[in-house]
Amino acid sequence: MNDTRRLEGEEARIDADRGPRLREHFGRVRAHTIDLVRPLSEEDCCVQSMPDASPAKWHLAHTTWFFETFVLEKYEPGFRPFMPAFRILFNSYYNGIGEKHPRPQRGMLTRPALYEVHLYRKRVNERMEAMFEKHGHEESFRLLVELGLHHEQQHQELILTDVKHLLSLNPLKPPYGGQEREPSAPAGALEWTGFDGGIAEVGHDGNDFCFDNELPRHRQYLQPYSLASRLVTNGDYLRFIEDGGYNRPELWLSEGWDWIRANALAQPLYWESTDAGWSEFTLAGQRRLDVERPLIHISYFEADAYARWADARLPTEAEWENAAAGQTLRQTADEAWQWTQSSYSPYPGFRSPEGALGEYNGKFMVNQYVLRGGSCATPAGHTRTTYRNFFPATARWQFSGIRLARDGSSSLLEKPVGASRRDAA
Ligand SMILES: [Fe+2]
Repeated sequence: MNDTRRLEGEEARIDADRGPRLREHFGRVRAHTIDLVRPLSEEDCCVQSMPDASPAKWHLAHTTWFFETFVLEKYEPGFRPFMPAFRILFNSYYNGIGEKHPRPQRGMLTRPALYEVHLYRKRVNERMEAMFEKHGHEESFRLLVELGLHHEQQHQELILTDVKHLLSLNPLKPPYGGQEREPSAPAGALEWTGFDGGIAEVGHDGNDFCFDNELPRHRQYLQPYSLASRLVTNGDYLRFIEDGGYNRPELWLSEGWDWIRANALAQPLYWESTDAGWSEFTLAGQRRLDVERPLIHISYFEADAYARWADARLPTEAEWENAAAGQTLRQTADEAWQWTQSSYSPYPGFRSPEGALGEYNGKFMVNQYVLRGGSCATPAGHTRTTYRNFFPATARWQFSGIRLARDGSSSLLEKPVGASRRDAA
């Protein structure tokens, strides 16, 4: 969420164009969510495949609830909810708002029907239009709407990850539609880019949108380090599997080892080994495994074990951001979220904004790891180099992959000119 501290004491906007632009953007983002569920049947939209995933119908309603609860309720004179019960049904985790329907039981909501949720979206959109007329020029209104739209884009990615998980459980292996990713070009040799380290600025800078967890911008000291120029591919990871990676305890964190043993894991989520070779379930259905493509759908534990096998480690989020800001890396935001070894914790000086919206990010800063970048399922323009995604160490249903790091920069030995250099691995 943007720095909601800026929501207080706001001034009327000077830039008269920003309101209309935001109104157009609102229409596009809300319509894109509808486009994403168009390939789905009503049954697809209702089912919840696991507690971590939500039904598409719930995502449709919850993103609408966000605008109803945080914008309409604040700005609409004589506000009345579309349906009072929705306040509980579609509240995700905001304790400051009140009761919540239990997350693992979102798939039990056969009522409201899907058409009623679509009507809910339509009515709230209409009421938002009226609010744009009256308040589109106000900074506080604009910031809340921006937050709601970035929130909706986060749920657009979740719709895809959750639908993929749901369809993967169907023996028919039905495609969602379209192509999950463009056919890949040869990945090429993995190269290392060295960074001299020193004091780096980390965190969002400037006046455009960011979530509160990207603030405040601050300094961190980095030791010399190197990052892989590209992501780990399916082919790279196959070599780890063939080398007995899942059967070698010395490669695994203790918790990770116990977890793969308890769950009998020996390959990434959605991979399948048959007599005909390896295949993977994709949004386009079951496909032969493309060894050139970046690896996706692995946990932090698997990423960490692979890195150890490769005589490397995962980057810290500060190392990743420092490198990405210098634009020296490929595949930063369009293939896979990249696990870092950084625990998801507050930046120095971070304070959650006041009120229920302060629950957006801050209260999740425990027992999770930061992922950087963005994936093929991330809406265009949604992420930034300072963007901090976060998931528990066992999460695999997100489009999560690996960029390797190593200690030291060979530039220290060879005294190159500039902050970075490449050398073949
Ligand atoms: Fe949400």
